Amino acid sequence: MPRARYLGHACVALADGPHRLIIDPFLTDNPVAPVRAEEIDVQYILVSHGHGDHIGDAVPIARRTGATIIAAYELATFCAGQGVKTHPMHIGGAHDFEFGRVKLTIAHHGGGHGPDASRYTGPAVGFLVTLGGKIVYHPGDTGLFYDMKLIGETHRIELAFLPIGDNFTMGIEDAVRAVEFLQPRRVVPMHYGTFPAVAADPHDFAARVKGAEVIVLQPGETIDF
Ligand code: NI
Ligand code: MN
Repeated sequence: MPRARYLGHACVALADGPHRLIIDPFLTDNPVAPVRAEEIDVQYILVSHGHGDHIGDAVPIARRTGATIIAAYELATFCAGQGVKTHPMHIGGAHDFEFGRVKLTIAHHGGGHGPDASRYTGPAVGFLVTLGGKIVYHPGDTGLFYDMKLIGETHRIELAFLPIGDNFTMGIEDAVRAVEFLQPRRVVPMHYGTFPAVAADPHDFAARVKGAEVIVLQPGETIDF
């Protein structure tokens, strides 16, 4: 049975048997991270965009473990330039890996990297990850978009991680609407509570969602799916 572990902010570790992946491994500068980057042991690292709170420790983890970074072409190329293995993809494209399938989705968000975000590392993306026959949706950072309805119509989503922190991404009201569009079976709120700018009450979100089970995970907690 596949398992997801929420590591705070937008970082999610996925495991299925021998397969281990991590999405947006922002750990070192993440005040709520329950683990250190040095403890992460994975074969694949999925990175939604170049902002520091998403690319985070991806390159050092890839360098240490030999893991392959899966990202949009521009960001993958940026990482490859730092000497790590990458698998470039792009929006709308899917690929079968040993662990399962990854499809890149649109995300409405920026894609700059560095202290002044001046290094363009491609558009932000989201991920549909099929693991153990179940689909996990991690939209990265995004505002609400109506094509989530299309994603929901064409994919039976078992588990959706949705940002609720507002300011940089969807807030609670739009995330509730996203659940209506996506029709996932279960939802885990993310991208809140890390910094004052993304303060949000996940239980307020849970109370407003209809038609899906909301599971509020504390950083470090897991869910089998
Ligand atoms: Ni961002
Ligand atoms: Mn972010």
